[in-house]
Amino acid sequence: MSDDLTDAFARIRVDYGRDGLEPPDLPSDPMDGIRDWLAQASASGIAEPNIVHLATVDPDGRPSVRAVLVKDVDEGVVFFTNYASRKGEALAAEPRAAGSILWQPLHRQIRVEGTVTKVSDAESDEYFAARPEAARRSAQASPQSRVIPDRAWLEERARSATGEDRPAVWGGYRLVPDVVEFWQGREGRLHDRILFRREGERWAVERLAP
Ligand SMILES: Cc1cc2nc3c(=O)[nH]c(=O)nc-3n(C[C@H](O)[C@H](O)[C@H](O)COP(=O)(O)O)c2cc1C
Repeated sequence: MSDDLTDAFARIRVDYGRDGLEPPDLPSDPMDGIRDWLAQASASGIAEPNIVHLATVDPDGRPSVRAVLVKDVDEGVVFFTNYASRKGEALAAEPRAAGSILWQPLHRQIRVEGTVTKVSDAESDEYFAARPEAARRSAQASPQSRVIPDRAWLEERARSATGEDRPAVWGGYRLVPDVVEFWQGREGRLHDRILFRREGERWAVERLAP
C-alpha cells in the first residue's frame, strides 16, 4: 500500500459509541429485525439503505460479490436481477448465498446466509411492471455480465427495446436465511454481535465475540 494511503487510514479512527445490543432488543424472528433495522436506516436519512452485498460461488468454487438492492423482506430477502448473469449462473449451480448490509453512519451491519430460490413469475411481473420505463428497457437490453462491443451497442439495444413485457431471463430471487447476524459498533472496538441460527422451527440466539 502507498505510504500516503497508510497514513490516511491510520488517522481515521471513528469511534462507534452507539447504544449496546442485547438479544432482548431484537425481535425473536430475525426477519422482523431486518425489517426494523432497514426502516430505522431509512428514517435516518441514508439515501439507499437497501443495498446488500451479495456473495455467491461459481461452479468452480470461485467466490464473487456484488451490490444489489433489497426490494422486499418477507420470509426471505428479495432482490431482482438477470437470471443469466454471472450470479444467476452461480445460483443455478449452487443455490446458496451470503449477504451483508452495511449502514455505516449507524455503525450497523446485518449479515445473512442461506438458500436462494427464484420468486414466482407473478411476483417478477408485478415488480417489473412497477419499474420506470427506462429501467424496463435497460433490463430488456442488457445481457448482464456478458462482454459487449461498446456503449453505443448497448444504447442502441435500449432504444429499440419495447419496455413492455418482462424478459423471461430477468426476475427475482429470495434468499431465505438460516443465519442472520446483527452487528452494532461499540466503543473501543468492543462491538456487539448477536447471531440467529435457524434450528428447525425455532431460532437459536447466540452472542459472538467481535
Ligand atoms: C448500489 C448498487 C445497486 C445495484 N443493484 C442491482 C440490482 O438490484 N440488481 C442487479 O442485477 N444489479 C445491481 N447492481 C449491479 C451489480 O452490482 C452487478 O454489477 C450486476 O448485477 C452484475 O453482477 P454479476 O456479473 O456478478 O452477476 C447494483 C450496483 C450497485 C452499485
